Amino acid sequence: MTELYRAHIIDVPADPPGSGAGLRSLEDGAIAVEDGVIRACDDYAALMQRYPQAQLHDWHGSILLPGLIDIHVHFPQLPIIGSMGMPLLTWLSERTLPAEAALNSEQNARPAARRFLRSLAANGTTTALVFGSHIAAAQRTFFEEAAASGLRICSGLSLGDRELPPPLLHNADQCYRSSRALIDRWHHFNGMRYAVTPRFSVSCSEAILEVCGSLMRETEGVLFQTHINENHDEVALVKRQFPWAEDYFATYERYGLTGPGCVYAHNLHPTESECRRMAAAAVSIAHCPSSNAFLGSGSFAMQRHLDYQIPFAVASDVGGGTGFSLFKEGLAAYEMQRQRDDGVALDPAALLHLITGAAAAILGIDDQVGSLDPGKQADFVIVNPPADGTLAAVIEAASTPAQKLGALFTLAREECTALTCVGGREVYRRAT
Ligand code: GUN
Ligand code: ZN
Repeated sequence: MTELYRAHIIDVPADPPGSGAGLRSLEDGAIAVEDGVIRACDDYAALMQRYPQAQLHDWHGSILLPGLIDIHVHFPQLPIIGSMGMPLLTWLSERTLPAEAALNSEQNARPAARRFLRSLAANGTTTALVFGSHIAAAQRTFFEEAAASGLRICSGLSLGDRELPPPLLHNADQCYRSSRALIDRWHHFNGMRYAVTPRFSVSCSEAILEVCGSLMRETEGVLFQTHINENHDEVALVKRQFPWAEDYFATYERYGLTGPGCVYAHNLHPTESECRRMAAAAVSIAHCPSSNAFLGSGSFAMQRHLDYQIPFAVASDVGGGTGFSLFKEGLAAYEMQRQRDDGVALDPAALLHLITGAAAAILGIDDQVGSLDPGKQADFVIVNPPADGTLAAVIEAASTPAQKLGALFTLAREECTALTCVGGREVYRRAT
């Protein structure tokens, strides 16, 4: 059966005419969905003619975007969003890691997983690369709930054997065995993928990084995620912990933790040599602007990443980040670049690309998701702001699609998500 979703369609097609990221906008448009796949994306009238028998979902007056993709977000950290007043290392030791230790029972882990996944879907996020728990049972629970959620989830057990509270500490052998068991059970299950996840070099001895290298070599299609160059104190600590390493990136490089599908969060303070080697190693960066501002970690040299051709996308980094909304994160990215002398002039199309197509490419799934091109999975979000709110008034006043999209990035938040679908299946619908 064909289903037609009618709305104002906006995306950044995989191959926009001309160069760079350009908006496609169909004011009274629709997508035709069959078997969870987008068959056509065109004017509503044209698709009604082509599919006269289709079941119509009439969202006329709302905006339909591709499902949003968050390439860096922490499962255990929803409850500590908004923990103010601390820089990274204090925030971790005093607030975040103790909260992560609370996922030590099924009774705590399952509702936490459900709440987290619901928050993704409620914010229009359909695909996420999720930093997991250090606790293997909690991570297993997370995978169970992720499989049931219908979202496209990549995730992995957080690994570390030092600088962590006791319930989160595991030696290299335990890390290997727990990761291996989770990979064997969940990698490629229901479209999910496993990500090898050392927390950061600060909390990982060389034995742990070596385990990560082995897991990567042993497992086809596995992703990798960690943190790098986020905060000056952290960078200095890594220098003391790894005296042989010329810089932070070298601590990962030595163990083969590089290549496409390796996602490094932050990279606010890289050296020229690190940038050169990151580009050559084809790793990608998760740029998390609200977290960077909230923790006072620094500012992202986006132009330098463009110059070196290091791929990046915008991500939430909940709970250093201030929420799940990738619209808000796009606004934070925009504002951060406005503050810099070398700031990149981001327009709404570029921002949308950074939370859809660019993120899909980093995860190696841009043939399946990231835009509304025919042939792609029917992953989309319908944005419909409350009628009496500020955003509805701004959208009504907007005269171009780019202006509407700029208003969404600036004002749209969780309460504006009307419907989120993954592979044509509803994963969230706002209560009426
Ligand atoms: N570095 C190591 N762990 C974390 C974390 O949980 N959040 C952030 N922002 N940085 C980290
Ligand atoms: Zn993070």
